[in-house]
Amino acid sequence: MRVLIIYVSIHHGNTRKIAREMGEVLNARLIEPWKVKPEELEKYDLIGFGSGIYWWRHHRALLKLVESLPGMGGKKAFIFSTAGMDIPFYNHRALRKKLREKDFEVVGEFSCRGWDTNGWLAKIGGINKGRPNEKDLKKAKEFAEKLKDNFSP
Ligand SMILES: Cc1cc2nc3c(=O)[nH]c(=O)nc-3n(C[C@H](O)[C@H](O)[C@H](O)COP(=O)(O)O)c2cc1C
Repeated sequence: MRVLIIYVSIHHGNTRKIAREMGEVLNARLIEPWKVKPEELEKYDLIGFGSGIYWWRHHRALLKLVESLPGMGGKKAFIFSTAGMDIPFYNHRALRKKLREKDFEVVGEFSCRGWDTNGWLAKIGGINKGRPNEKDLKKAKEFAEKLKDNFSP
């Protein structure tokens, strides 16, 4: 199965840890959205989209990339994130909607807490220090293993 993981991780590298863990299981290529050529996506069977959550949604560059794509004809996708407050149903809604508008089939979603020192939180040393931790990475690995089992051609 050819897998591409498109991610943004600008705050503490929290989401990069998750992307790498999943990437290892799925033998995926990891890339940032501003380096993606839309026509490249064709050659992948499964595409992961993930970032930290910034102001209640995924990074703008990820959302913009999806907006720029043509219809994807039911191509399989998954969503992931790390966030100060891990509320995936809410945090993923903008990306989920855009992916569906482009006719991706969203086959899974993963999220966990990430170290957050945004704004005034810096004054108290942030929240979720040490996250993602070993347990989070194990869950990310298991999520990726399930994708591999369920969707390998
Ligand atoms: C500018 C900014 C805005 C953020 N907004 C939110 C938010 O709306 N909700 C939330 O739960 N976390 C928010 N966070 C925390 C990040 O989602 C969290 O730290 C995440 O793990 C960062 O991932 P990264 O290190 O991969 O960039 C914000 C962080 C920053 C820097």
